[in-house]
Amino acid sequence: MTPFLLAHLSDPHLGPMPPARLGELASKRAIGYLNWHRKRHMIHRRDVLGELVADMKAHNPDHIAVTGDLVNIALPLEFVEARKWLEGVGTPDHVSLVPGNHDAYVRGIREHFPHIWADYFRGDDGTSGNDAAFPYLQRRGPLALIGVSTAVPTAPFMATGRLGHEQRAGLGKILQQLAAEDLFRVLLIHHPPVTSPGRWAARLRDSRDLLELIARYGVDLVLHGHDHRHATVWLDGPRGRIPAVGVPSASAMAHGHNHPAAYNLFSIERNGDAWRCQQRVRGFADGMKLGEIKDERLI
Ligand SMILES: [Fe+2]
Ligand SMILES: [Fe+2]
Repeated sequence: MTPFLLAHLSDPHLGPMPPARLGELASKRAIGYLNWHRKRHMIHRRDVLGELVADMKAHNPDHIAVTGDLVNIALPLEFVEARKWLEGVGTPDHVSLVPGNHDAYVRGIREHFPHIWADYFRGDDGTSGNDAAFPYLQRRGPLALIGVSTAVPTAPFMATGRLGHEQRAGLGKILQQLAAEDLFRVLLIHHPPVTSPGRWAARLRDSRDLLELIARYGVDLVLHGHDHRHATVWLDGPRGRIPAVGVPSASAMAHGHNHPAAYNLFSIERNGDAWRCQQRVRGFADGMKLGEIKDERLI
């Protein structure tokens, strides 16, 4: 059997920013709008993203995970543009999406991403398009993909996320059910389950509860975005350690602590009564040249 190939990219923060009407620039959006025009448009580049996605597609992944922050300040036109971009990445049955904090940037806009992107987070049971659709469960080949939403509106200068009681209860049920099946369980989440140093204002607020769920029921791999950096953190599981892997923004130039654009390719196959997972990382390095960054056994 050939291994199942799962690609992972995140945080495209699609530009250019569409023109905003004055009424749309509520306080947090106004800060984000200025920020985009001052700085972020130079960091997140469509040409970088285009090259990265083309490279990823050339590797013919069996499935693609996108872990949020497609837009910047959640203007209605940004969601429409992001939908077009998603369709270029792949069809909904090939792409699993979870939203990020920028996709729920301000209050009152939560209806936008569920409706416009609905079929990119449809569970196998057919649910999608509203908060109750998370967590969703999709079975693809030997994989069980579980998507959760940590996207909640926050105050200016905050980028925290939260699962909330209902999603955690739903996640517990799904993981309990999957424990009896022979599938490689991949949890898709925008915020990292363990807060990185200096990221308190951008943390997952109920991370401790999530870590408890993972320790009790187990998953095989956690994929996240949000920090715009390469990261691998090992979590406690019921039968050993579980890798949580973060990836830089798919459109980013190197800046500050953040790494330039990259994506992950996981080759997953059965290995006796365990799983084997090889991680390749491809992305931009010296001089913004796209190439292989890493190729090593993860599990
Ligand atoms: Fe982001
Ligand atoms: Fe984020």
